[in-house]
Amino acid sequence: MSTKTYVSDLLNRLPESATLAMARMSRELKEDGNDVISLSLGEPDFNAPDFVKEACKKAVDDDYSHYPPVNGYGELREAICCKFLRDNDLVYTPDQIVVSTGAKQTISNVVYALVNPGDEVLLPAPFWVSYAAMVQLAGGVPVIIPTQIENDFKITAEELRSNISDKTKLMIYSSPCNPSGSVYSKDELTALAEVIKSKPDFFVVSDEIYEHINYTGEHASLGTIPGIFDQVITVNGVSKAFAMTGYRIGYLGAPTWIAKACSKMQGQVTSAPSGVSQMAAKAAVLAEPSSVFYMKNAFLKRRDMMLEKLGEIPGLKLNVPEGAFYIFPNCMELLGTLTDDGQEINTSSDLCMYLLKEENVALVAGDAFGAAECFRLSYAASDEMLVDAAARMKRAFGKLKKQN
Ligand SMILES: Cc1ncc(COP(=O)(O)O)c(C=O)c1O
Repeated sequence: MSTKTYVSDLLNRLPESATLAMARMSRELKEDGNDVISLSLGEPDFNAPDFVKEACKKAVDDDYSHYPPVNGYGELREAICCKFLRDNDLVYTPDQIVVSTGAKQTISNVVYALVNPGDEVLLPAPFWVSYAAMVQLAGGVPVIIPTQIENDFKITAEELRSNISDKTKLMIYSSPCNPSGSVYSKDELTALAEVIKSKPDFFVVSDEIYEHINYTGEHASLGTIPGIFDQVITVNGVSKAFAMTGYRIGYLGAPTWIAKACSKMQGQVTSAPSGVSQMAAKAAVLAEPSSVFYMKNAFLKRRDMMLEKLGEIPGLKLNVPEGAFYIFPNCMELLGTLTDDGQEINTSSDLCMYLLKEENVALVAGDAFGAAECFRLSYAASDEMLVDAAARMKRAFGKLKKQN
């Protein structure tokens, strides 16, 4: 049989999601009988809460089995408005809400709704892997704004200003951030807002999907900063806070014209997300966030434990991530080294591949996130797995020799 394929040039140019690729490789190794610890995926290791499951079962019995309105059921959009007001001080009306099949689709809708070919989209790095691919698919040009671990991987107002051009249309960032775990404070966002305000045809996706996994005790929503509400698209979802990744529900609040454009896009691609998932998400967004803080508390303990363990590994530079469930160490000092069998470790990808082969620990290299000198470790795993993974990392990295 011919092995020739006819995949479009567009898709051939698109990289495979690095996090999913690493997950696939570790699954394959596991299937071959290897004792793999995968710290590569961005998924809570909890199950959805019981009240969510009950709401979903009830929705089945109540026959939420028909096509829902493209932008989501009105009752869910109203519940989301209540959530935005309760948790974020954001006043949206149901026509400004669009519910999608995960925040991934939400963000993709926004990119297609706003970006013309050649438009520049600012991506403070490190950024979530899919942002750049979405921008490229839409014909936009990702403009990467590098940050430093010393500044907790955050951009300053000056860095934002100096990257804005006539072609800038959009910026996409997450806080708490995947992959760095960084959290922008209200003051930091206020400084960025001054710059955003100066260009009214510039829009910002504030991806707040890790909102409830924030150890600072304070989550700031960009849209609440006076003067920029009409330029902000607030993205959120139930995947992370409520451990509902498989329910596939994300949503946005945005100026009505943007919400309408996203709905139009979604109407041609997927239509509304699953009706029973929407009812499960309604129960989640209406619940007090404190009902799921047991997950955040567990993540915080694991973060502290892992920071201590990783701190014992020579060659890793660490900061203290204030949210999400990732640590993003800088591994520059381990680059330019040689393995026992003479293989060169020149990039964080080389380092992650070496670790996977040597000790069966799966991480994700930083280049996928626009920060090639770092890697991402997810601590959404059991204490035993994390302790074991840290020991394996120490062993593998300790064997690397500096090249002469
Ligand atoms: C920063 C960020 N945004 C959006 C998403 C998409 O989440 P979902 O599509 O599961 O709602 C993820 C998932 O990993 C993420 O980390």
